[in-house]
Amino acid sequence: MAKLIYSAIASLDGYVADENGNFDWAAPDEELHRVVNDLERPIGTYLYGRRMYETMVYWETADTLADQPSFVRDYTEIWQSADKIVYSRTLDAVSSARTRIEHDFDPETVRHLKAAGDRDLSVGGAALAGQALEAGLVDELHSFVVPVIVGGGTRWLPDDVRMSLELLDERRFGNGAVHLSYRTTPQDQSPGGVSSNGSTPL
Ligand SMILES: NC(=O)c1ccc[n+]([C@@H]2O[C@H](COP(=O)([O-])OP(=O)(O)OC[C@H]3O[C@@H](n4cnc5c(N)ncnc54)[C@H](OP(=O)(O)O)[C@@H]3O)[C@@H](O)[C@H]2O)c1
Repeated sequence: MAKLIYSAIASLDGYVADENGNFDWAAPDEELHRVVNDLERPIGTYLYGRRMYETMVYWETADTLADQPSFVRDYTEIWQSADKIVYSRTLDAVSSARTRIEHDFDPETVRHLKAAGDRDLSVGGAALAGQALEAGLVDELHSFVVPVIVGGGTRWLPDDVRMSLELLDERRFGNGAVHLSYRTTPQDQSPGGVSSNGSTPL
C-alpha cells in the first residue's frame, strides 16, 4: 500500500505564504533542497491544489534554463517524471505532461490510488492537504520550519483537524531551518480523537 505524504516549508508560526501571498522567505538553500529532492524522489504522483500547481508548474520548463546547479537539475527531473493530479473547479487545461485535472476531491478515489499504488503519493497546497488530513488519508507529515515569523497568511495546517503523531525524525540545517517528520496514527484522525491523559500542566 502506498503512503500519502504532506510536506510543507512553513514559518515558525505555521504559514506557507504570508498575508501578501509571498513565500520568498521559504526559498530552500542547497542543503535543504537536496533533502526535499530525496524526500520527493520516491513519489509517483503529486496531488496538487490548483494554486500550488500554478507555482510548481515552473518545473515543467526548468530544464530549458541554462547553468542550473546539479541539485536544481535533479529536482527538475524528479518533478517531470512524476504523475500529477490537479484539483480545480476552474481549470480546464494544464500545461505540463503526465497531468490530469480532477474537478472534485474525492477521498475514496485517493484511497483507491493508495491501495493500488506501488509508489507513494504526496499532497501539496494547504487547502487541498487540509481536506486530505480531514479525510484521514495522510500517512506522513513533513514540516520544514523556517526561522521566521510572518504574522499571518495561509496556514499549513487546517483549523478543524486534531490528531496524535509519532515523531519519525528531526534534522537541523545550517540556515536555521528544522525538518520534523511525523507518522499519523489512524485511530486519532477525528475531531476530539486526542484524549487528555490527566497529566499536570507545565
Ligand atoms: N512555502 C512554500 O515553500 C510554498 C511553495 C509553493 C507555493 N506556496 C504557496 O502555498 C499556497 C498553496 O496553498 P493554498 O491553500 O493557497 O492553495 P491550494 O490548496 O494549492 O489550492 C487551492 C485550490 O485548489 C482547488 N481545490 C481545493 N479543494 C478542492 C476540491 N475539494 N475540489 C476541487 N478543487 C479544489 C481550488 O481551485 P479552483 O479555485 O481552481 O477551483 C482551490 O482554489 C499558495 O499561496 C502558494 O503560492 C508556498
